[in-house]
Amino acid sequence: MPDSLTAPPPTTEVPPAELPASLREAGLANWIREPLDDAVDRTRRVIVPPAAATMGTPLRECQGALMAEARRPDTIFMMGDNPALPPMPERPALKDFFQLRLSTIGANHMLQSARVARENGLDEKVVMACLLHDIAIAGLLSANHGHWGAQMVAPYVDEEVAWAIEKHEALRYFPDESVGYTYPHAYIEYFGPDYCPPDYIRREYEAARRHRWYMTSRLITINDIYSFDPGVVVDFSELEDLVGRNFRQPAEGLGFDGSPVAHMWRTMIWPNNFL
Ligand SMILES: [Fe+2]
Ligand SMILES: [Fe+2]
Repeated sequence: MPDSLTAPPPTTEVPPAELPASLREAGLANWIREPLDDAVDRTRRVIVPPAAATMGTPLRECQGALMAEARRPDTIFMMGDNPALPPMPERPALKDFFQLRLSTIGANHMLQSARVARENGLDEKVVMACLLHDIAIAGLLSANHGHWGAQMVAPYVDEEVAWAIEKHEALRYFPDESVGYTYPHAYIEYFGPDYCPPDYIRREYEAARRHRWYMTSRLITINDIYSFDPGVVVDFSELEDLVGRNFRQPAEGLGFDGSPVAHMWRTMIWPNNFL
């Protein structure tokens, strides 16, 4: 039998002392949700983490064990509302994703970035782009986050805003001293001093550099740098007027408007669905 069918869940493999308590409790031990109460019919629900989140990690080999677990009595795969997440309204708006789904640090980072951009007197398109620029990291996927984020919001924002969000990912790696933007110190800490972005990122940067909307995207990177202050919390209501003017909220709710990206928003509503 292949290992993937017999490997035990990671909680029994990872020495607890090597994991911070937060990971032990929330990241690894909780793939299997114990029944909470009668409201969730006392059935255990097994969460199978998505492939993109587990490749290259010990969790990769646990899928078979999780699937076997789901076949036990009174146990099913997680589908629909996960009782561990706050319920979303029937017709969710951008604000609901910020308040009920996006990571706290990610949402706060974008809110701070938008506040700084607004205080700097920048155009509303720039402020809106700052507010959404890392939405993929905060709610969906980190790798290629500029592209995922731009696609998610494209039907609802000005084309220039989506373009700027997509390109900020590449522009972050390349200085522009004419506007005082230098290579981020944080990236030296994150990726090491010798990290060199791959060719496709360099090509994206070079093309973006020549584009008429270059400065819109560059301004995201400028306002990105100064907005990592965990002590400052910005309430979404501060940006609500801006969102009202610059984000076309669908009447059916994000995830249910039949747009080509509705599935991305639904994935954030029900992130633990087996299918
Ligand atoms: Fe980013
Ligand atoms: Fe950012």
